[in-house]
Amino acid sequence: MNTPSALRGAPWPGAPAGTAAPAAAGARDAAAAPAPGGTGTVAFEGVGKVYPSSAGAVAALQDISLEIPAGSIFGIIGRSGAGKSSLLRTINRLEQPTSGRVLVDGADIGRFTEGELVALRRRIGMIFQHFNLLSAKTVHDNVALPLRVAGTPRAEIVRRVAELLALVGLQDKQHAYPARLSGGQKQRVGIARALATGPEILLCDEATSALDPETTQSILALLRDINRRLGITIILITHEMSVIREIADRVLVLEQGRIAEQGEVWQVFGAPRHEATRALLAPLQHGLPDDLQERLAPEPPAAGPYRRVLRLSYTGADGLEPDFARIAQALQSPVRLLHGGVDRLRGHAQGRLLLSVPGSAALPDLATLAQGPQAIAHSIEVIGHVAGADHSA
Ligand SMILES: Nc1ncnc2c1ncn2[C@@H]1O[C@H](COP(=O)(O)OP(=O)(O)O)[C@@H](O)[C@H]1O
Ligand SMILES: [Mg+2]
Repeated sequence: MNTPSALRGAPWPGAPAGTAAPAAAGARDAAAAPAPGGTGTVAFEGVGKVYPSSAGAVAALQDISLEIPAGSIFGIIGRSGAGKSSLLRTINRLEQPTSGRVLVDGADIGRFTEGELVALRRRIGMIFQHFNLLSAKTVHDNVALPLRVAGTPRAEIVRRVAELLALVGLQDKQHAYPARLSGGQKQRVGIARALATGPEILLCDEATSALDPETTQSILALLRDINRRLGITIILITHEMSVIREIADRVLVLEQGRIAEQGEVWQVFGAPRHEATRALLAPLQHGLPDDLQERLAPEPPAAGPYRRVLRLSYTGADGLEPDFARIAQALQSPVRLLHGGVDRLRGHAQGRLLLSVPGSAALPDLATLAQGPQAIAHSIEVIGHVAGADHSA
């Protein structure tokens, strides 16, 4: 991909005189007075949102206080109806909080005038699950639209749209209409359009939910690239936990309009504390394979050889990762790996292993094997027993 020079240090269209161009890291020079905490910071202070409805008021958000660091990729997860979209939409004031404040780069956007709000929305791009492209306009014209509205000169629009389309890999599609594009291409147009005004923040509401897994991967790679190269803060809602695991630095879990937990992804995913988080993460966990599940008994068989099945969990803390020589030594018996694996999140190993050991061997105290510098896992438990000297029934 080309270096998007128009996105780096270009004057931010419609910016009030004396305002720093926010988009690119390159634009953040010493001469431009940086906002406290850097450009692209969002802070929620006691944010609440109540929707009036005929069936009574709905408290969609309650007492949300947190900060989203500039330049980070921040994930928001939660069950359907948890308040994710409501929270995201307070950042560009598509929703007004009923209580509390939303600060963008330290400024209380609730007090913005109409003019300031227009300028704010040029600093905050947004992409959607269903792309929201204008079907009667070409790719070029869809991307050009925010620039037209901002009164950008024609020659500048042409140059910028070309650069944006190169950034998202759609140089050859500028004359195409949305109906002729694949889902992934449509979302690339949506991303180019969202970046047209050189935003410092990109909001993504279920942006990959309508895409197949392979296309999702390519869109995530593009978002990560945009985050790294342009320094744009990306705030994304998704129901796909793998998306969070793949690209987010931090994650917020919402449950019934409140913060269930938040933190670095490797910590929250490695050791989820809230039941809502555990429920959301369940699809990522390695469950028991069906054949093993059927044969697993809580107690050893009354007679005959059997194997104990153990589950070792890794949460990503302390740099601990599976060391098979030490595992076999600690369990004092020949060990077989049945199922599972570890992922690496920001350099931390996490996951689960299902192992089996012969029932004939005495088990050491498992609790001590999950503690201190000699630990072989963050937790170890016997989850059951299978009859037979091996696993083939
Ligand atoms: N415009 C609205 N009017 C009334 N209720 C709404 C409106 N938007 C959202 N809600 C309600 O607020 C709650 C949170 O919705 P939403 O923020 O869309 O959740 P999520 O994005 O996590 O699915 C839900 O109970 C939803 O029905
Ligand atoms: Mg939503």
